[in-house]
Amino acid sequence: MQANGIKVRLSVKNPKTAEALENVIVSDNEYLLLGINAKDPADLMIFELGGDLEKDFQNIRSLIDLGVAGDVFLTSIDFTPEVLQRAIREGVKDFFSQPINSIEVKQSLERFSNQKGKLNQETKPPKESKILTVLGSKGGIGTTTVAVNVAVSLAEADSVDSVALIDFDSMFGEIPFFLEIEPTYNWGEITKNISRLDATFLNNILVKHSSGVYVLPSPRRLNGYEGTTPEILESILLLMKKLFEYVVIDLGKILDVNSLKIIEMSDDLLMISVQSISCLCNSNDLLRSITSKSSLPEDRIKILINRYMKKSEISLKDAERSINKKIFWTIPNNYRATFSAINQGKPLSEVASKSKITKNFRQLADNLICGETCQLKRNRLLRLVGR
Ligand SMILES: Nc1ncnc2c1ncn2[C@@H]1O[C@H](COP(=O)(O)OP(=O)(O)OP(=O)(O)O)[C@@H](O)[C@H]1O
Ligand SMILES: [Mg+2]
Repeated sequence: MQANGIKVRLSVKNPKTAEALENVIVSDNEYLLLGINAKDPADLMIFELGGDLEKDFQNIRSLIDLGVAGDVFLTSIDFTPEVLQRAIREGVKDFFSQPINSIEVKQSLERFSNQKGKLNQETKPPKESKILTVLGSKGGIGTTTVAVNVAVSLAEADSVDSVALIDFDSMFGEIPFFLEIEPTYNWGEITKNISRLDATFLNNILVKHSSGVYVLPSPRRLNGYEGTTPEILESILLLMKKLFEYVVIDLGKILDVNSLKIIEMSDDLLMISVQSISCLCNSNDLLRSITSKSSLPEDRIKILINRYMKKSEISLKDAERSINKKIFWTIPNNYRATFSAINQGKPLSEVASKSKITKNFRQLADNLICGETCQLKRNRLLRLVGR
């Protein structure tokens, strides 16, 4: 047994189950089975659910919170969908039905060990995680442009450890074109296999872009979306928050029960508008609908005017009057750079690194991270060498 192997503790009452699990663990010297009286914290605890589910979940929560167990796997004779949902929300990473299938346990331990190595190498656990959701007041006004370039500008900041970008535009998710990636899977896979949701499963679906941003692609057709529920989306976002410091979401322009759940879980909602009467009217309606239908406080909704032109017929003051809210940010009009970036499948910082619009996205990211006056360091070369 290796002294620095993965430490596993069992909290299993059923003797047959305990024996089967012990046999798998001790058969591989990568794992160290901790004795009942050992005081070391375990990297992994395998916990058997008993008769009192509420008490068991409270125990699991405190085991994770107190650092007694890094991660928890569950075993039980029977897993109902409700128990699985609850377990995922509490942070449980995998499940073994009884009687124990040794091969399944072995594979799961292997995934855990690979994942542990991978996450240690690539992403440190986030200091504090934030969800930034980008919502369009209308189609075609630059929602995806903003989501992609905010995510990349966040990832460029030296102080930021990890950024994920989720494409929740379920019909026309276009992020793969914006970043020239070819995803094999998408979050529709998660909705169909929610019981398998853990860091390893998620990691297999995420695509890493050269900027360092991890992309969770959209199914791009309704059949992946129909099975989605607010509870499933909550599970996905809770897990993403555990893995990433910033989670940027392209929500497209849809407001329904699912997107309302995402909005409620967001730290900031960046609502995109442009200087046109119809779009500002939509922004106004959206603003009122969101504040009446969700628990998101209004000060977390930030209005951004994209394609901003100083000489437009509709001034910023007019825009603010029409929505009865201050405009948080303006992004300059630059069709040539944004169009060329999309066509090349690259972020603005790669195709127009010195342009006003790219600098604007960096300032926006700085503002979202640490407020109005701060300017974060972006030593791009060093970061690219490190990736
Ligand atoms: N700041 C900007 N200045 C000028 N043009 C822009 C700007 N931002 C985006 N565009 C242009 O607007 C068009 C639509 O952009 P984008 O796909 O990001 O919008 P969207 O709101 O996500 O659209 P959809 O509703 O199709 O998802 C693109 O051609 C892009 O070049
Ligand atoms: Mg879009």
